[in-house]
Amino acid sequence: MTQFTLLESPSWKDYALLDSGDGLKLERFGKYVFERPESQAMWKRALPESEWKNAHAVFQPTAEESGGHWIIKKKIPEKWEMTYPLTLTSSPFLSWRGELRFNVMTTPGRHLGVFPEVASHWDFVAGLVQKANRPVNVLNLFGYTGLATLAAAAAGAKVTHVDASKKSVNWARKNQELSGLSDRPIRWIVEDALKYVQRESRRGVKYDGIILDPPKFGRGPKGEVWEVYKSLPNLLEMCRECLSDNPLFVAVTVYAVRASAIHVAQAMDEMMKGFRGTIDSGELVTREQSAGRLLSQAVYARWECN
Ligand SMILES: C[S@@+](CC[C@H](N)C(=O)[O-])C[C@H]1O[C@@H](n2cnc3c(N)ncnc32)[C@H](O)[C@@H]1O
Repeated sequence: MTQFTLLESPSWKDYALLDSGDGLKLERFGKYVFERPESQAMWKRALPESEWKNAHAVFQPTAEESGGHWIIKKKIPEKWEMTYPLTLTSSPFLSWRGELRFNVMTTPGRHLGVFPEVASHWDFVAGLVQKANRPVNVLNLFGYTGLATLAAAAAGAKVTHVDASKKSVNWARKNQELSGLSDRPIRWIVEDALKYVQRESRRGVKYDGIILDPPKFGRGPKGEVWEVYKSLPNLLEMCRECLSDNPLFVAVTVYAVRASAIHVAQAMDEMMKGFRGTIDSGELVTREQSAGRLLSQAVYARWECN
């Protein structure tokens, strides 16, 4: 049975959606405020112009998808640190401070190194790993700057993190250090996600939890083309072959504009046939501070064993 949810990430202190409207969003990342395009914000801004003028930087998009550049209006450091208070029932390691700590910075692709709306997945993954009370092997595909990887590792899992970009993997490794998780067993892999899973399947490697956060379009390190609608079914099928006999969870997030949560949930339902569990699916949303409206950022489906 599938349940549909609007999933918020309410634990953030270092991030806030301050306002949205007129095709834009105003956000705070740590001490700094940014204005970015948000085509779905088809209402009027609630905060006065003076608040929007306070932004430290504005992303100026070009016609082509995700192209553009940052206009810096006030001084910001090249990079700065943010934290996320991960929800864990108890601290599994003496060295663990209870929060993910990571670097953020403006990047050419309009992002800053964290997708704040997926934070509820980090809590979901960490909670299940902790509750399992057994050795847990997690695979994180399209892992970006590593925050889901670090959440699983902080809860006690052994994690394999895969991303096509060496730069992102290096950033993620730095975040591991900042978070005080350097001694946790994480394998960092720069590879095409599908190729990697195919190889793991041939080697008979099994995982108890799999996280997938694919972009709409992407490229592997050797130019392998990723196109979410075409590539996801095959990837999910290969992931199924890598699941252990008692999997704990699978979490898929899709940012592709036209993807509905219904479709992602149905793809997951097909993937998880034969395993006893439930699917929760819906939209990852952020509530703005100004007028309480919700911005839907992505759709997701999560399977968990029962
Ligand atoms: C930014 S994250 C995902 C966040 C969000 N879902 C989005 O759509 O932007 C996407 C990550 O996937 C990685 N990536 C893209 N194509 C890939 C591929 N074929 N194999 C592995 N990683 C890939 C990128 O390097 C990037 O770090």
